[in-house]
Amino acid sequence: MTIQTVATTPIEGQKPGTSGLRKQTKTFQEPHFLENFIQSIWTGIGGVADKTLVLGGDGRHFNAEAAQVVLRMAAASGAARVIVGQNALLSTPAASNLIRKRGANGGIILSASHNPGGPDGDFGVKYNTANGGPAPETVTEKIFAATKVITEYAIYETQDADLSTLGEQTMGDMVIEVVDPVADYAALMAEIFDFDALKALFASGFRMRFDAMHAITGPYAHAILEDTLGAEKGTVINGIPSTDFGKGHPDPNPIWAKPLMDEMMGASAPDFGAASDGDGDRNMIVGKGQYVTPSDSLAVLAANATLIPAYSGGLKGVARSMPTSLAVDRVAASLGIDCFETPTGWKFFGNLLDAGRCTLCGEESAGTGSDHVREKDGLWAVLFWLNILAKRKISVKDLMVEHWRAYGRNYYSRHDYEGVDAAGANALMDDLRARLPDLPGTDVAGMTIASADDFAYDDPIDGSRTEKQGIRIGFEGGARLVLRLSGTGTVGATLRVYLENLETEALDKDAQEALAPVIAAAEALAGIKAGTGRDAPDVIT
Ligand code: G1P
Ligand code: ZN
Repeated sequence: MTIQTVATTPIEGQKPGTSGLRKQTKTFQEPHFLENFIQSIWTGIGGVADKTLVLGGDGRHFNAEAAQVVLRMAAASGAARVIVGQNALLSTPAASNLIRKRGANGGIILSASHNPGGPDGDFGVKYNTANGGPAPETVTEKIFAATKVITEYAIYETQDADLSTLGEQTMGDMVIEVVDPVADYAALMAEIFDFDALKALFASGFRMRFDAMHAITGPYAHAILEDTLGAEKGTVINGIPSTDFGKGHPDPNPIWAKPLMDEMMGASAPDFGAASDGDGDRNMIVGKGQYVTPSDSLAVLAANATLIPAYSGGLKGVARSMPTSLAVDRVAASLGIDCFETPTGWKFFGNLLDAGRCTLCGEESAGTGSDHVREKDGLWAVLFWLNILAKRKISVKDLMVEHWRAYGRNYYSRHDYEGVDAAGANALMDDLRARLPDLPGTDVAGMTIASADDFAYDDPIDGSRTEKQGIRIGFEGGARLVLRLSGTGTVGATLRVYLENLETEALDKDAQEALAPVIAAAEALAGIKAGTGRDAPDVIT
């Protein structure tokens, strides 16, 4: 075995986005693309010599090959140990847990999350730091800087490591430790939740459907829901991970998880339905005849948290990303705890969690989590809901009605315009941004604008400032409109329009109807049709 030093030149477009570097798989497979980025990670984190890393991915096309490259590059740069999930698989929350549990210096997660996989799909690489969370911007900026000046990378010339057999092997001086991807994560879930109550729930005939969407949570859900908690066989569907996610779009929302939605809205629906995404950090919650928006889900978890053993002492605080609805704010106010508003992306929760300022956090994009790891966690959210239902002995539908009666209902929807012309989308945002100072006090679509700004976040822990995180427009009476450009898309630009309207009386409306004035205001203020060249959103969730 020898270390090869390969001459290379910087490759454009290696700036990590909302969640790591995400590109079309084909781009990642181009000569030096992956290697340049991995070497730049080593540079950005001050070298990998003598360090311990965790490595795994969601199993999509190119996962297995990329894992071998990472191992050979870690060995060539002097890493001491890499802990790898068997067959290079690890869900994102399981990777976060392993980093923390094993005291690793960091980890590499191979995933493009909910983006489709396969030769024509997407691939991604995320670096997580020693706290188990996504690298903060101070680190990703160093990585990006390194991608712009790279001249060479180091890689071992050797056979592929055997990642199918549990145990230790060496590559040069580096130890490769292959571990069961599920075991440590399942043990953590058993510490957090009341597994006896969940076993009793399933034993009483409670029926559930969990759609793993052909992605990474299949093995985790089989082991925890069916094998440990006794949910009937067949509870987990699409539970065998495939490299192209069954040619599907592994994003757990009513659009992409439509078969599950249809079943849950049907006459013979089970009591509870849930789904998770490509890498297992997102979740969708749906009861019999009742979809729960991710923003509402966060609020319900916060309101019922003390029913869960791990949170029985109460919450330190909660946090939500800026576009997430204000439903959780209302719960926090009634509990008398802090509610933080952060930019989009899980990395902004890390400091708050590390500092013990909040216990639960969530995003409108189907992400919910707590201080048990430093990533959002799909199956954790599902178990949280099951634990609430087991204790409360109430249906999802009744629980939601009760919640809205107590706190009001924040009707919520997100309209996405995908793959639009980037110049046009930027012009739309720039134009609206320029008009923000003049908007407060003016009327649009029958509503009065109370506030309008371009969201900037001052991290209360490290004092760092993050600007231009989306346009926020608040209306009198509690409605809200947010516009921002996606940081995870791989083609053109994606405009996200987030719509919210608070109702304290009419709790049973159709969401799009309840949001009609806000939708009209968005068009009037931003000229979305003209700016995107689209008559309607591509995806409404
Ligand atoms: C999207 C979501 C965001 C989430 C991210 C990674 O980012 O909106 O909440 O953290 O995926 O899962 P976006 O494409 O909007 O930048
Ligand atoms: Zn994900």
